[in-house]
Amino acid sequence: MDFLKNMLFDQATSSPTWAFWLLAAVGAATLARMALCTMTSAKQMFGPANNIRAYGNWALVTGATDGIGLSFAKILREKGLNVIIVGRSPEKLAAAREEILAHKAKTASTEVRTVLADLSNPESIKDIKTAISEVEVGILINNAGLSYNHADYLHNISPTLINNLIAVNVSSLTHITQAVLPGMTSRRRGLIINIGSAAGLMSTGDPLYSVYSGTKAYVDKFSRSLNLEYKSQGIHVECCVPYFVVSKMSKIRKPNFMTPTADNFARYALQRSGRSFLVLPYLPHALQHFVLESLPLSISSKLVLRHHLDVRRRALKRAERLAAEAAKAQATTAN
Ligand SMILES: NC(=O)c1ccc[n+]([C@@H]2O[C@H](COP(=O)([O-])OP(=O)(O)OC[C@H]3O[C@@H](n4cnc5c(N)ncnc54)[C@H](OP(=O)(O)O)[C@@H]3O)[C@@H](O)[C@H]2O)c1
Repeated sequence: MDFLKNMLFDQATSSPTWAFWLLAAVGAATLARMALCTMTSAKQMFGPANNIRAYGNWALVTGATDGIGLSFAKILREKGLNVIIVGRSPEKLAAAREEILAHKAKTASTEVRTVLADLSNPESIKDIKTAISEVEVGILINNAGLSYNHADYLHNISPTLINNLIAVNVSSLTHITQAVLPGMTSRRRGLIINIGSAAGLMSTGDPLYSVYSGTKAYVDKFSRSLNLEYKSQGIHVECCVPYFVVSKMSKIRKPNFMTPTADNFARYALQRSGRSFLVLPYLPHALQHFVLESLPLSISSKLVLRHHLDVRRRALKRAERLAAEAAKAQATTAN
């Protein structure tokens, strides 16, 4: 204590030393930075809703046959935009189109077009390019995504799944973005929302989802870079980050305070778009991220790993039970 006192105050005159002023300056700079960050976050979270009609009449949404993508497409139509939806299953595409058309819309004349494309196949981009060439796409939502069936070690992940994760989450997203840019730059307006994930943002990474986490970290850095690259040309690019949302991918069926429905998430995502290169649009997710990132890395890493090991243990137990039930049913039929 005496050491600190002697360092900060001159012993003879009791006046502050240079060390005192240095410490005071660092403290003031830290407080100013925290205040600025808080103000920026508050503005992003509570500022006026983005006018998504301002970008043009057409929006393109990938992975719009289910979950968050389907919700995005419905809300875009509700706001009066024409939508092109991309999906890999003809039946699901037709059903999604019906559902979007049945959704309330500002103007009944809005169109919903479909593009059948399996985004794990690089050739499928051609069909998307054709669809884009026929209209002026003002908004692109790169939402299609794929994850593991359950948490697991990399050596247990099939090479096919690894390739598909990179093809859908990284390659297709990059090529589709590239395809809409010439039109957007010539019109000097556009909004590109790339759906990332907490898995790609957390400092801990996402152990037992390593490839998924890596692909989503790409989405974050890609969007940040593009935002700076195209800002001066009137195009806003952002990475929109969900934690858990009710969907087929999360395997969560009931919403709660921390896990919104896909509709709710998509509504906040559109409302809070256009403000930053990185958006956590659902407030409880933003708070969750803040708390997790505030913990010492040694603690948050242990928590995340322990949680995923538990997910893996439960998934393997369930698979074992289902296999035993199937074997029993087969034996009964054989008898
Ligand atoms: N839900 C969450 O908790 C959560 C958390 C973090 C991030 N995310 C991200 O949010 C985005 C949407 O996920 P979601 O939760 O809505 O998942 P979802 O319900 O499984 O929907 C994913 C969509 O992507 C499509 N898709 C997958 N592989 C495709 C392929 N090869 N070609 C074309 N389309 C393909 C799916 O088509 P099918 O209908 O044919 O399968 C579906 O329409 C993803 O990028 C995901 O990584 C979700």
